[in-house]
Amino acid sequence: MPEIVVENLYKRFGDVVAVDHISFTVRDGEFLTLLGPSGCGKSTTLFAIAGLDRPDSGLIRVGETNFFDSASGDFIVPEKRNCGMVFQSYALWPHMTVQENLAFPLRLRKVSKKAREQRIEEILRLVELGPQKDRYPHQISGGQQQRVALGRALVYSPTILLLDEPLSNLDAKLRERARSWLKRIQGQLGITTIYVTHDQMEALALSDRMAVMQAGRICQVGTPQEIYSSPAEPFVADFIGTSNFLRGDTVGAGDGGTIAVNLEGSDQCLRIKAGKTLAPGTPVLISIRPEKVQVIDPSSGAALPAGNYLEAEVVDRLYYGAYYRYRLKVDDIVVRVETEADLPTGTVWILLSSEGCAVFEADPTQDAAAEPSI
Ligand SMILES: Nc1ncnc2c1ncn2[C@@H]1O[C@H](COP(=O)(O)OP(=O)(O)O)[C@@H](O)[C@H]1O
Ligand SMILES: [Mg+2]
Repeated sequence: MPEIVVENLYKRFGDVVAVDHISFTVRDGEFLTLLGPSGCGKSTTLFAIAGLDRPDSGLIRVGETNFFDSASGDFIVPEKRNCGMVFQSYALWPHMTVQENLAFPLRLRKVSKKAREQRIEEILRLVELGPQKDRYPHQISGGQQQRVALGRALVYSPTILLLDEPLSNLDAKLRERARSWLKRIQGQLGITTIYVTHDQMEALALSDRMAVMQAGRICQVGTPQEIYSSPAEPFVADFIGTSNFLRGDTVGAGDGGTIAVNLEGSDQCLRIKAGKTLAPGTPVLISIRPEKVQVIDPSSGAALPAGNYLEAEVVDRLYYGAYYRYRLKVDDIVVRVETEADLPTGTVWILLSSEGCAVFEADPTQDAAAEPSI
């Protein structure tokens, strides 16, 4: 299966820059997700790859073939690109049975009756719809309709698979099952796949790698683990999962890249590994996941582990079965914490380990997305 290379892709609609010079590569057989909020340019990117829309400039190459190259003027028409596509609205033909829906793309490609029947049998087995093959779309469930749509995209052995929010119309339970199923099929076929979603959980669960998009550009590309644990920008830390954000100014650099930060909203000073050199007085934004904040009950008599800690007050807590979600106050700063520990009310110590934190240079006038949403 070929790789997909996108270089410097740019597309505007009037005044709106939908895709702003983005570049990424999807490796052979990889499942890559474009993740970002609504309107960030995911579908425009996918449509450009499918050939359903013509970008203003850039390059799209699949294997050895330039699908689009503004430098040479190459543009391959969509029907010659052999992409399998599934949309949020499955777009099944309502007057055709499951089997006829699957047959349609093969008829278009003038596949012989015998080969057609054989291929449809294979696909019905793959998407587990043998018993439903003579039903019409309105006679099967939403999950089954979604499987027909996927089957129809796969039936003509596409070169690559492009999926635009294909599970959004399913209810939460079905979506969960459809995810596992989709991931298994994609792995079995080894087909190079681009998946578009605004759902961060879906992206984390499904992807080999994901590209996080905001306002037409790509903020970060990485494995779900890399993106979650080492966000490259405050937007990524905020959009994927939950993050606490602490603002402050550096007051001095210590050994091994450790910085001291005067926190905004508190008299306490935080010492943390920045992983980069920052001049004293640099405004910084520190993000930390709620489950990475370690909390120590001072009355437990536990020796304080080496490292930096802050004094905090427990404000309230919610019980979620597997863990508690606390809100703590470090002076005027609210910090969310998730832990199994049953903490007392009153004063606790919280430990922000350097591994759990990401330190960003902050523009104090910007980063609206990074405002703590408490
Ligand atoms: N055909 C179009 N005409 C005008 N504006 C469009 C068109 N398609 C998309 N846009 C705009 O381009 C931006 C990106 O859209 P889109 O790629 O659909 O975002 P996403 O799929 O991430 O939600 C949005 O601001 C959207 O309104
Ligand atoms: Mg879209």
